[in-house]
Amino acid sequence: MEKKSKPAFYVTTPIYYVNDVPHIGHAYTTIIADVLARFKKLDGHDVFFLTGTDEHGQKIEKAAAERNLKPIALADKMVEWCKSLWRDLGISYDYFLRTTELRHEQGVQKLFQRLLDKGDIYKGSYQGWYCTGEENFLADDVPLTDDGAKICPDCGRKATVVTEETYFFRLSAYERPLLDFYAAHPEFVRPQGRMNEVVSFVRGGLKDLSITRTTVKWGIPVPGDPAHTIYVWFDALNNYVTGIGYDWDPALFAKFWPATVHLIGKDILRFHAVFWPAFLMAMEFPLPECVFGHGWWLRDEAKMSKSKGNVLDPYILIRTFGPDPLRYFLMREIPIGNDGNFSHEGFVNRVNADLANDLGNLVHRTLTMIRSYFGGVLPDPAPEHEADRKIRSDFAALKDAVHSHYGAYAINRALEDIWVYIGAVNKYLADNEPWKLAKDAARRPRLARVLYQAAAAIRGTSYLLYPVMPASAAKIWDLLGEPEPPERTSYAELSFAGPKAGQAAKEAVPLFPRVDLKEFLAMEAKPADQAKSEEHMDYITYDEFKKMDLRVAHVLKAERVEGAQKLIKLQIDIGGETRQIVAGVAETYKPEDLAGKKIVVIVNLKPAVIRGVESQGMLLAAVVDDKASIPFFDAHVPAGAKVK
Ligand code: MSP
Repeated sequence: MEKKSKPAFYVTTPIYYVNDVPHIGHAYTTIIADVLARFKKLDGHDVFFLTGTDEHGQKIEKAAAERNLKPIALADKMVEWCKSLWRDLGISYDYFLRTTELRHEQGVQKLFQRLLDKGDIYKGSYQGWYCTGEENFLADDVPLTDDGAKICPDCGRKATVVTEETYFFRLSAYERPLLDFYAAHPEFVRPQGRMNEVVSFVRGGLKDLSITRTTVKWGIPVPGDPAHTIYVWFDALNNYVTGIGYDWDPALFAKFWPATVHLIGKDILRFHAVFWPAFLMAMEFPLPECVFGHGWWLRDEAKMSKSKGNVLDPYILIRTFGPDPLRYFLMREIPIGNDGNFSHEGFVNRVNADLANDLGNLVHRTLTMIRSYFGGVLPDPAPEHEADRKIRSDFAALKDAVHSHYGAYAINRALEDIWVYIGAVNKYLADNEPWKLAKDAARRPRLARVLYQAAAAIRGTSYLLYPVMPASAAKIWDLLGEPEPPERTSYAELSFAGPKAGQAAKEAVPLFPRVDLKEFLAMEAKPADQAKSEEHMDYITYDEFKKMDLRVAHVLKAERVEGAQKLIKLQIDIGGETRQIVAGVAETYKPEDLAGKKIVVIVNLKPAVIRGVESQGMLLAAVVDDKASIPFFDAHVPAGAKVK
């Protein structure tokens, strides 16, 4: 029989600017993409999930300069940050594209050249209001002041009219083709309301688009004319084709292009629903199936953004709750197209009610009863009664409904339906009172059926939750004694009667922490953990760092400081010179642990007197829960060697 190839599903997130660390708004888009990717994989698709970073342009140049960094150094840091956040949130992307990688840059230049050759890009001159402070042309819609000038909305300075040579993209030529395309593909922009916005913008008339800059150095040079760099949006949008093999893996590109869905925030709709399809038409590539413009997460009714200083750091929640509660909350709270107001109160209340109570307790109770009444082994169930049958048939209906909700990007509706079912299973247990059945030996078969039914319902429900809460679903399957993780079962294969009688379930463990709202708010008010608090990082320059004289020191002698519980006095050799230092490490080390060791000491720190003892330097140590942990060098590293 001929093997049927799986349908392709290609989902993208916007590529994130590297001027700052991602916040909950960025996590939101990425989580939606992850949910869809995981669902489509279960549902038998070949999935490609692309995300990445947008690293060129003036915004990044400026942010790097403010931190005394080269743009690429800032980008490298942010990429690490982004990747570790995605890892901690359980994001299963297939490729992380950086716009500074060579094959992207070459792909963009090639596409630029192609349009230049076709005449869709031409050289001309651009006249506009230019702000010398921001080194930027003002947007056309910045209004004229009474004296006929324009004021830069970013810095408040007066702009001047400047004429510059630039390359234009012939956007005006695509006005009609775009309108025809929208009419033929009413689902291209979703939700529907956003399509209306796009159509009326295009109907208002399209002007050619300046797509190069001479004022921005940090960008991809125009092929053959390197005084010009390619406008960041032309560069960035093309990530969707360079990320899946355009110009480097034709088979991959053929398999996944056109994209199934570009997920974006509504603020960048015009770029994706007008400019991008026009570029694609010019490049003669087929157009994506859908651009989904989601709403914003607001705080106090304002869009969360770094410039407003109202961003929420996902790590505050991940540290306490793990990734799944945040994923759940963001997916559950609003339909993808709407705005949502984020508050820690709302988050904690929902997590306590839905996850700790409804789902967590259901799993806990069921496993505990299987353990107490059947020694942890899933019992062989007796024939079903009417109520048992309903739990099974309701599950079949739920499975179908959830399938169509996920398929229609209505993730919140899938979760709502799942919770109605969880409520029904909780009620089923309350009505059947297995704890009473357990007291009567004659009713043991009935007890077996009720607990089997609950276990089967939990298994099925957690499978349906897998796209949103992959770690929790895997944990629940493992607790139920399932031999394989959920993602090994396809959506079509999933059946209610999956659990095998005789299967050994594990002892219940708490799945979701129940968090006291007041305690959480108090904790959240404290400054974030240094390790994960890029937001509060004060950068120093390399020159400042160089001022520190860090050396390997050999500990010659170590003794306690009389009357000071925490202090140890060390005699150290820093390469021919002996010094005395005092260190607060006595809670973790005895003097004899330190004698003979090689440690790092900052030797040009101003001497200080600590508890009457002079300290001529300071050793370096990690401090965890107020306890020091000293890094030691191997014995062969010589005393006095510089640490830099
Ligand atoms: N680099 C461009 C995208 C280029 S895609 C070819 C960009 N980057 S961004 O980092 O500023 O924003 C990325 C995405 O995050 C956007 O879709 C934006 O809508 C989304 N969000 C930023 N703040 C948000 C909220 N407060 N809420 C929800 N999404 C938000 O734009």
